[in-house]
Amino acid sequence: MTKVLVIYASDYGSTRKMAEAVAEGAVGIPGVEALIRNAEETTAEDMTSSQAIIFGTPVHMGSMDWRVKKLIDTVCSGLWAKDALTGKVGAVFATGGGLGSAGGGAELAMLSLMANLAECGMILVPLPKHTPKYEYGGLHWGPYARTTNLAHEPIGVSEEQLAVAKTHGANVARVAVALAGKLEFQK
Ligand SMILES: Cc1cc2nc3c(=O)[nH]c(=O)nc-3n(C[C@H](O)[C@H](O)[C@H](O)COP(=O)(O)O)c2cc1C
Repeated sequence: MTKVLVIYASDYGSTRKMAEAVAEGAVGIPGVEALIRNAEETTAEDMTSSQAIIFGTPVHMGSMDWRVKKLIDTVCSGLWAKDALTGKVGAVFATGGGLGSAGGGAELAMLSLMANLAECGMILVPLPKHTPKYEYGGLHWGPYARTTNLAHEPIGVSEEQLAVAKTHGANVARVAVALAGKLEFQK
């Protein structure tokens, strides 16, 4: 089986819901199993035993959640030192409440997460613009769910946003299956 690990941080449940949709999309691909893990519970073994790792974060103060960054700076950095993440498939998603064309830092949060994954030597999967419902739940870096309305009231995650997250999970799983056992990086 090809294993897809979906990691998230969440206070109010929206990012967790997106993580569940990503995992649902992944297991729809034959031969794929998914594991959903809270960032604070994720272990090195969870990561090394997975062929793909998808990180989800709420946008906090314009960037990624500290629990996700803590995981990267502790567990991932240890694996980076052993070159244990090179060649794994990586992807990201986010939720946020920010309004305006740039949201409240969603793009920066996703891009900086992707930079962390690139630092680990992972192969990054973006979100194609032709993805169904992209206009409701996407940036080309990955699924993004805005979880407030124009009055700044929380509205949670919509079906369209969850559909985009599901497609992303399936895309990442397809890449992981296609690459399984086929990659060898020069060291
Ligand atoms: C401490 C804190 C800081 C936040 N900062 C931002 C922000 O800078 N930009 C933004 O778009 N949303 C921000 N939000 C809103 C959350 O990103 C949004 O509500 C998100 O969907 C929450 O995810 P969750 O339900 O998984 O906890 C912030 C929320 C909290 C609690």
